Amino acid sequence: MEFVLKDGRIVEIRPLQPTDDVFDLCRFINELIEEKSYIAMNEKITPESEAKWLENQIDKMRHDELIDFRAFLDGRCVGGAEARRGKWKERDNVELGIALSKEVRGQGLGRKLLMELIKEVKKKWKPKHIYLSVTEGNEPAKKLYEGLGFKEFARFPEWVNHYGVYKDRIWMEFAIQKNF
Ligand SMILES: CC(C)(COP(=O)(O)OP(=O)(O)OC[C@H]1O[C@@H](n2cnc3c(N)ncnc32)[C@H](O)[C@@H]1OP(=O)(O)O)[C@@H](O)C(=O)NCCC(=O)NCCS
Repeated sequence: MEFVLKDGRIVEIRPLQPTDDVFDLCRFINELIEEKSYIAMNEKITPESEAKWLENQIDKMRHDELIDFRAFLDGRCVGGAEARRGKWKERDNVELGIALSKEVRGQGLGRKLLMELIKEVKKKWKPKHIYLSVTEGNEPAKKLYEGLGFKEFARFPEWVNHYGVYKDRIWMEFAIQKNF
């Protein structure tokens, strides 16, 4: 699927594939780490570990445990949004996560990716709960989630060591009945 950014650039949105370029995926995640963004990871990845990660993601997708949508600009990965299904007694709960490269932020892509992901999650899994977490201070992410209909339901105080500062981890749930 094609998506037109606010500035007119065209991004391709599609599921992660086994043939995707490990070096490019590695570059994408390492840029987010270098930038000290609010993603959970804070240690750079090697192409070897990224290759293992890719294999694992594909395996989970095949076993219906994961949906991973990617955004590409001129063939380079500039975004990823994933939905992970819980295990065993938590199988009906789905956790989401999203990250975009700096160059495509504020262009409506985060909103689009999450909307597409939620549509797919509802269609495939008909979950009881759709939820995510955000680190206190990550205002763009919090605003995006609130705008889509996520509401805070729990807060782990001073849970995340964000480059030397302890910040709350805020849990938010999607109002399932909301349709796009
Ligand atoms: C958080 C993130 C996914 C948002 O995606 P995005 O494509 O930039 O957001 P969108 O352009 O779709 O904007 C959607 C809404 O989010 C909010 N938003 C986006 N950027 C914002 C900013 N810089 N400041 C405040 N609110 C912002 C707005 O409410 C916006 O709605 P509007 O366009 O009607 O004003 C993106 O900034 C990102 O990947 N950041 C780095 C990694 C990260 O923090 N991931 C989330 C971890 S929980």
